[in-house]
Amino acid sequence: MSSLAARRILLGITGGIAAYKCCDLLRQLTGAGAQVQVVMTEAATAFVTPLTLQALSGRPVRTALLDPAAEAAMGHIELARWAEVMLIAPASADAIARLAQGQANDLLTTCYLAFDGPKFLAPAMNQAMWRAPATARNVATLEADGVTVLGPASGVQACGDEGPGRMVEPAALVSALAAWADAGAEAPTTAEPSPWAGRHIVITAGPTREALDPVRYLTNRSSGQQGFALAEAAAEAGAKVTLISGPVALPTPPGVNRVDVESALDMLAATEAAFATADLVIAVAAVADYRASAVAPQKLKREGTEGLTLSLVANPDIIATLGARRGQDAHPVLVAFAAETENVVAHAEGKRSRKGVDFVVANDVSRADIGFNSADNCVTVVGPAGAEALPKMSKRALSAQLLHRFAAALRP
Ligand SMILES: Cc1cc2nc3c(=O)[nH]c(=O)nc-3n(C[C@H](O)[C@H](O)[C@H](O)COP(=O)(O)O)c2cc1C
Repeated sequence: MSSLAARRILLGITGGIAAYKCCDLLRQLTGAGAQVQVVMTEAATAFVTPLTLQALSGRPVRTALLDPAAEAAMGHIELARWAEVMLIAPASADAIARLAQGQANDLLTTCYLAFDGPKFLAPAMNQAMWRAPATARNVATLEADGVTVLGPASGVQACGDEGPGRMVEPAALVSALAAWADAGAEAPTTAEPSPWAGRHIVITAGPTREALDPVRYLTNRSSGQQGFALAEAAAEAGAKVTLISGPVALPTPPGVNRVDVESALDMLAATEAAFATADLVIAVAAVADYRASAVAPQKLKREGTEGLTLSLVANPDIIATLGARRGQDAHPVLVAFAAETENVVAHAEGKRSRKGVDFVVANDVSRADIGFNSADNCVTVVGPAGAEALPKMSKRALSAQLLHRFAAALRP
């Protein structure tokens, strides 16, 4: 097992010509099983695109500090808290100067200031810029602050000069981080390789909203907490996580790719789009069973009516649709959550065979102390080995327990 497996690395990229080497660096880090969150300066985006790095890291790349949407999802302080180690490569002369002064005028420098773990810098610049007294002073300041400065290497530079200033090769940077991990940095969650490292987990969460007219809709009491807790646990276990969520008031867990949807049909489309690459699909969302047979184009008027009869049609069963599709283009493990109010195990066993899924996680929503809008849950897992009643616990703790059981059904 690589010592970088499941490590949470914040990779800062600044505006230098060596930024192109980050693609290779990122591949090597993720190949070693690390979870890498990329933060780029604005200048860096002129050298390599966020889209490329997003594709390589499997996570949205962060570039802006004053971005309300990104900040609501995973703010700069949460990014700093999430990371176990921070590497800035390449580190430009400008970034080094700003870091040495303690400036926090963009996302990267703000994260750096807010991060109190081990920091590595790989400077890369023209040899004269590297030799400049100001750069030497700034580097000395950072080293005195406890930062490990890797390189730079000497040689022929992109500008034609020769001398010190080339970024240390990606393999050497990976080795430096591996040495940090080997040197006794507290081990990630387990000593065993995580079965989820590099796997893709798709989770649906929350309620759906089925429009009746432009202002009204049908929905249910699902808070989304259980699905979000599973997404957080899955990301921490090293998986690439796609969280397809109905309307909920919850922040996106760190490292999770969230897709917001409204209706059951939207949720089905988003889930089908993610299905082909999924290793595990967990359908936690409380999908509305019915939708209006026709959505009124204008607000339904009350005047002159004594009542209203709604005409509803059945929504597709998302997990059953995937169960029927399994084996054609993908073969993920499938899990359905089932809210029951009576005969919980019998109903769950029936659903498991009807829907063609591996596991049904059944909870008794008639109990007031668990289920909807509660921090705790108490479930029975019905799987290939039969029914197992788990004790009441927090939704987050339950998530880890459930992932452990689902891992046993993963295909190699
Ligand atoms: C083509 C080009 C290449 C550059 N290469 C470097 C470089 O390798 N190292 C460096 O420190 N600055 C380099 N710069 C200058 C930085 O891009 C500039 O100082 C910028 O403000 C850095 O911003 P940042 O530190 O926020 O990323 C380069 C500029 C250009 C136009």
